[in-house]
Amino acid sequence: MAFREYKIGTRMFGIALGGSMIITLYMPSLDIYSVGVTETGLVKGLSYGNNSGFSYADPFLQGKGKPLTITVKKDPVTGADIDPVDAYVYKPGIPFPSAIRNPGILGAEVAALSAEDGRVGDASEAEGAVFLVSRGDYEGETFSYIENVSATRKWTTEKVLTEAADSDTYHVGSGKTMFVREGCWWCHTLLPEQTQDWQYFGLPPRLGDFNGESPTAFGSDRKGPDLLHVGSRNSSKEWMMMHFFNPRLVQPHSIMPRFDYLWGEVDENGNEIDYDQWRSDYNAYVAGENIYPPVVPDYAPNSEIRYLMDYVLSLK
Ligand code: HEC
Repeated sequence: MAFREYKIGTRMFGIALGGSMIITLYMPSLDIYSVGVTETGLVKGLSYGNNSGFSYADPFLQGKGKPLTITVKKDPVTGADIDPVDAYVYKPGIPFPSAIRNPGILGAEVAALSAEDGRVGDASEAEGAVFLVSRGDYEGETFSYIENVSATRKWTTEKVLTEAADSDTYHVGSGKTMFVREGCWWCHTLLPEQTQDWQYFGLPPRLGDFNGESPTAFGSDRKGPDLLHVGSRNSSKEWMMMHFFNPRLVQPHSIMPRFDYLWGEVDENGNEIDYDQWRSDYNAYVAGENIYPPVVPDYAPNSEIRYLMDYVLSLK
């Protein structure tokens, strides 16, 4: 057989493979770049931090290398009362999210506002920075954009952190890592569908809610309710605590596993949690020997359940 056929075949194969790669990989990326980010997208990007899955900053998915969400009630510089506002605090060395590293993904308008009015380009990971989601005008239209308040208002990470009460501090980013690590997405979606679904679970998300988010944790298969807006329909910390410690305390036939081990060794006051005792009391309650179930311990301020709870309750 002449060599010619092979050459033609090889070229045709190359064109077909290359063409399909362009269509499936390159062309959608152009489309994604043209989607302007929503305010929800900005809030998520800033509160979740760089990456909630496996990364070299957090190889064992312990929630390390994440920003803190802090509700600021007093101007950290002047001390004057202000309308409460959520600030996203990146201590020195905490990796910035895609929105800061690569503002192009936010869409042209938000990227321009964040660079010019927000001075996002002045932020450095080595020094740390504090960001807000602010509103501003670009060519006659109003947009939410990212403001680097360390540059624009001298709100340093130190000042914001020393002013902040623990009850105004939320570990939303570390909590999303817990959500990924614990496999909540095996049973729960974060994606109400464009069907009557939204009547119960709330509005489906919009495309611009996800710019730069990794991973999105949409989930695939639902064995429990959608959680995208769970914090709006159920914001009771007490209910959530009981439900995570042992879902059967509040939903007798729930198939959801218990996540009591996220409490760790000690409770809020530093006393050791006696899981064996708790379970035997619980079994006695289920058997009808006790009238009341055992009390769920209050969690320690740096426990993994705190992170998860802060994340779940942030899903508004
Ligand atoms: C084996 C499947 C399964 C896994 C894994 C699972 N869940 Fe659930 N979850 C359910 C089911 C079923 C329900 C509904 C019954 C109930 O309330 O317990 C539920 C209910 C919930 C609710 C209440 C929802 C509402 O509408 O009020 C929350 C919040 C929740 N789960 C969070 C989580 C989180 C966070 C994780 C991971 C740490 C998780 N679940 C892991 C199955 C699961």
